[in-house]
Formats: sequence, structure tokens, C-alpha cells
Amino acid sequence: MKRTHHCSELRPAHAGQTVILEGWVHSRRDLGGLLFIDLRDREGRTQTVFDPADIPADLVARAARLHSESVIRVSGLVRPRPTGTDNAKIPTGQVEVMVRELTILNEAAVLPFPVDDPELANKVNEELRLQYRYLDLRRPEMMRNLRTRSKVAIATRSYMDEQGFLEVETPTLFKSTPEGAREFLVPNRRDPGTFYALPQSPQQFKQILMVSGVERYFQLARCYRDEDLRADRQPEFTQVDIEMSFIDREDIYALIEGLLKVVWRTALGREIPTPFKRISFQEALNRWGIDKPDTRFGMELVDLSEDFRGSKFGVFGNAVANGGHVKAINAKGLAGATQGQLETMTEYAKSFGAKGLAFIKVEGGEWKSPIVKFFNEAEKAALISKLAIEEGDLILFAADQWLNACEILGKIRLYCAEVLKTQGKLVIPTDRFDFLWVVDFPLLSYDKEMNRWYSSHHPFTAPVAEDIPLLTTDPKKVRGQHYDIVVNGVELGGGSIRIHQPDVQKTIFEDVLAIPAEETQSRFGYMLEAFKYGAPPHGGIALGFDRLCAILCGTTSIRDVIAFPKTAKGVDLMTQSPANVSARQLKELHLEVKAAKKDA
Ligand code: AMO
Ligand code: AMP
Repeated sequence: MKRTHHCSELRPAHAGQTVILEGWVHSRRDLGGLLFIDLRDREGRTQTVFDPADIPADLVARAARLHSESVIRVSGLVRPRPTGTDNAKIPTGQVEVMVRELTILNEAAVLPFPVDDPELANKVNEELRLQYRYLDLRRPEMMRNLRTRSKVAIATRSYMDEQGFLEVETPTLFKSTPEGAREFLVPNRRDPGTFYALPQSPQQFKQILMVSGVERYFQLARCYRDEDLRADRQPEFTQVDIEMSFIDREDIYALIEGLLKVVWRTALGREIPTPFKRISFQEALNRWGIDKPDTRFGMELVDLSEDFRGSKFGVFGNAVANGGHVKAINAKGLAGATQGQLETMTEYAKSFGAKGLAFIKVEGGEWKSPIVKFFNEAEKAALISKLAIEEGDLILFAADQWLNACEILGKIRLYCAEVLKTQGKLVIPTDRFDFLWVVDFPLLSYDKEMNRWYSSHHPFTAPVAEDIPLLTTDPKKVRGQHYDIVVNGVELGGGSIRIHQPDVQKTIFEDVLAIPAEETQSRFGYMLEAFKYGAPPHGGIALGFDRLCAILCGTTSIRDVIAFPKTAKGVDLMTQSPANVSARQLKELHLEVKAAKKDA
């Protein structure tokens, strides 16, 4: 008694054959004695029929008592469905199986939520879905996501293999290198007070592999970051991690464009045009106010600094006089925003540092705004022409230092796009993929509170060669050989050409980042040492594999493409992890828990 077919396979050509199917009771309909069970397995669904005219009444009765999602085996005869009862929605919709024998392999209890109705299932709250993840994964759309992820992983491996890459595994019990995100620590029983750290990425190991002469490395690497979680961030996630020797940026662009071509073809059967557009960090900020712009819609930022130089409106005039910028966006169709909505928007802008959010509503042929009375004719004319102002527009302004003004309006632009989307006034095509390379990032950013420079990407990124002299004279002007790959406003990946000269790396650590020499030695000494013995020039990139799969599956949450994800609080609701451990375990690890856990 072995199954002969999957539930996706039977067609009219199978009519007359006796088949054995196994699977889950997807749905059941009782039509006055005649019982229909849709049987589902991983591949699809088939309608089975229990006809009391054909088989003993008790067999029909047993089937009638089955709960949804019970596991059964049936054997029976394939026949074409009676005329007019075909189901065009499923590939097996022209046939049914007249059941002769039924084996109940396992009865299911009543489910906490339905899995047979996509409409209903999508309304189930996500916490319940995560608690019963095994049921959630039975839903065809979740199974489809797992399948896509698997296919993409396999296509990635074979592409990388064809390109001459070696897949090398690197340790996940690593060392703490406090840089970037907070780390997860693992106490070491053998030496009290010492800890492993789970890697944020295999960055250091992959660079060491270049020193080892591997030349082309890749890995589908698990990474761990203890940061605030969101729809596109998990505490553990997967990277397609890549490193290459004797290359420049162009080699990375070509490799990744080739990889994404294969991936899009495999997962969606789509050809994506390459090469991708490239824009500088400066241009991305200037036009979209963000370093990962969604270019599928407009609403671009407009710079009005020159037009408001010396303006009577102090907020704008002073900003420009102080070396800042006045920027604006035109949210077409939002003039109807209420006072409350504008206040919400202003509060939102203030939450990331805006001093205010000046606006003009263009309604009933009038400019409704508390600030236009300060504008002269030339300023008004500049607004009309640069922002193409029309009836129904909402103009929003930010006056601040360049980066702040850009970033504030960048966030407001996305906010307005969401509002316009829900009002049906903006349609962002979901089947369009706007790939972009963002390049020429500043190597360093300044931390005002800590009063020091830090690496925009990570401290191993090489400066653009011609900018090296500026490292000590004008650090903010130094561009890094860093690149990000962006699609539809999602940062899919990032990487850089690395520093391979130990002296330059040491200068960055000690002179630019001001890490004390002893600390540099204890944290990165082994790397500086390794670089002394023949480090080839090298560079690499890491793509967020979960984000890649989410885009391919058409979802905005990477939880939908991870079999067992964690909640925003970092909890696995199915296994109830993290959890307390026994006093004995703590003792063995030389750990003591100080603060008593609050009852939550
Ligand atoms: P970076 O930190 O930019 O670079 O990470 C690379 C990509 O990994 C994805 N990613 C995440 N995905 C899900 N959850 C998270 N918490 C998360 N954090 C990052 C993003 C991101 O673009 N070692 C360098 C790469 C290099 O220089 O080669 C690195 O890790 O898609
Ligand atoms: P005020 O003169 O401070 O009352 O501000 C007048 C208008 O300008 C209000 O709508 C403020 O929200 C707005 N505003 C104030 N400062 C800024 C700024 N830096 N950028 C943009 N708008 C601002």
C-alpha cells in the first residue's frame, strides 16, 4: 500500500486507473449521503468521492466523522467528473477518485485556525500562526514560499559553483567584535568570564580566506544581530556571503547582476535587464532623501536653497544663511489632509529630528498655509515652476543641514506614498523591479555625541584611492569603495573593496576611528598579523537572502519566507524560546542572574 500519485497529478488520461493517494483532509462536503473530501498533499489537491452506492455505509460514515487536517490514505478509481462539475481552479479539476478503501493514518484535533481557506487564514493573527507554525506552513502560499526559497538557494549555489566559487563554512561560535549591532554572547564553561559571540556576518573569516588563497568564496551564512526587529529584520538571518581576490568593483557588479538574473529567471521566469543603474549616495539623498530609494514612483525632493537665500521667512532664510538647505516635495493629491493629519505628519518628522514641517495646501485655487504671507513674488514663482504646483497638491518643506533636510523629507515622502496608496491615488506596481547600485558612500560618518568618526559600512572598507590623502585632513570628504544593491526601496545587500595593506588598516583603526592601540591589538590583531603574510587585494558583498526571497515571493515581511521566524520581541512562539535554564546549568557556566524576572 504505497501512494501511486501526488494529489496534483491526476488528469482525464488516468481515468479507469486504480490509484492510492495520501495526504490531509483539506475540506469536506456532504451532499445528502454523497461525501466529497478534497485531499491535499504538498503538491496539490484532488477531489475524492465516498459514494454509499459503491462502498459500505460504515466506510462513508467513518469518513464523514473525520476532522479537517486528519491524515488518510485512500485507494480508488479515477474517473472524469460529471459534466458541469469541473473545477477550473485546480489542475486536477477535471477528475475525481471514487474511493474504495480508506485508511485513517492519524486523526487531527480541531484546529486553532483554518488552513483551507486563504481568505480566512490571512486574517488569523500572526502570533497564533507563529505559535502553530506547522499548521501555518501547510497553507499553500506558505509552502510556495518555502519552495521558492529552496529553489533560489539551489540556483545560487550552482551559479556560484559555475563562477568558480568555493562554498566554505565559517564558525558561528566567534569572538565579540563590538562594532555595529549588539551581539549575542555564549558563555564559556571552561573559562569563567569568557564568551564566544555569534557572528554578525562572516566578514573577518572571509577576508582571512582570501589571505589563505581561496580567491573565490561564498556561503549561505547564518548571521546574528541583537537589534530592534522589524518586518525586514530578524535576530538570525541568512546572507549570500561572497568574497573575491584580485578584483575591482566592476567584477562585483557583474557577478551580482548575473546572479540576480539567474535567480529572477528561476523563481519568477522573468528576464531582468542588466546592467543596473548606478547612482551616488549624494544623488540618492538629494533626489529621494534616502540611500535606498524606491524609484517606482516620483515625488522627488526639490532643492530651493538658492530661491530662499535671504528670504523674509526666517526659518528658510536662516537655514540657508547657516549653510543649510531648503528642500520640498509635492505630494500630489494630498491637499485634503486635515489639520490632525498634518500634525501627525509633523510629529512624525520631529521624531527623527525635524524642527518643523512647513506646508502649503493648494485647494480651491488658493495656497492655504501659515507661511506664504512671508514669500515674495520671485519665491512663489520658483515654487510654482520647480514643484509644478497644481490644484490638489500638498507641498511639504524641510529646512535644515543638507543631510537632515534630505532624510526628513525622504521619510515624509514614503509616509505620503503610503497614505496616497491607501487612498487609491498612487499605484506602485508590484511586478516592477527597480534595481540600483548605490555607490560613493562617505567612508566615515561623525558621531556628535561620542565626538568621533565611525565607519559608515565597516572598518575594513577601502577608501577610494584618490581620497586617501584626505583621511587625516578632511575625513568627511573621503569616499569609500562601498556599494549597496537596492531594489524597490529595499536594501538587498552591500559590500566593498577592502583594505588589504596592514598599515592602512591600522591607520583606520587607530588614527581615524580612534580605537586605542591595545584594543585594536586584542580585537583585530590576528587580522593585522594575517595581512602581513601576503594578503591579496580583495572585496566582496553580502545579499540578505531572506529579503531576496521576500521580494521574490511578493511579501514585505521576511517572516513569511523563514520557516520558524521570531516575533518583533525576538520570541519563538512555537518553542517558547528564549526560556529560563536550570540553576545547575547556570552554575556550570559560572553565571548568576541578578535581576529577578518581572512577571510579564
Ligand atoms: P550588511 O551589514 O550591510 O553587510 O548586511 C548585508 C545584508 O544583510 C541583510 N541584513 C539583514 N537581513 C535580515 N535581518 C537582519 N537583521 C539583517 N541585517 C542585515 C541586508 C543587508 O544588506 N559583512 C558585510 C557585507 C560585506 O561587506 O561583504 C555585511 O554584513 O539585506
Ligand atoms: P515657526 O516660525 O517656528 O512657527 O514655523 C512656521 C512653520 O514652519 C511651521 O509650520 C513649522 O512647522 C515650520 N517649520 C519650522 N521650522 C522648520 C524647518 N526647519 N523646516 C521646515 N519647516 C519648519
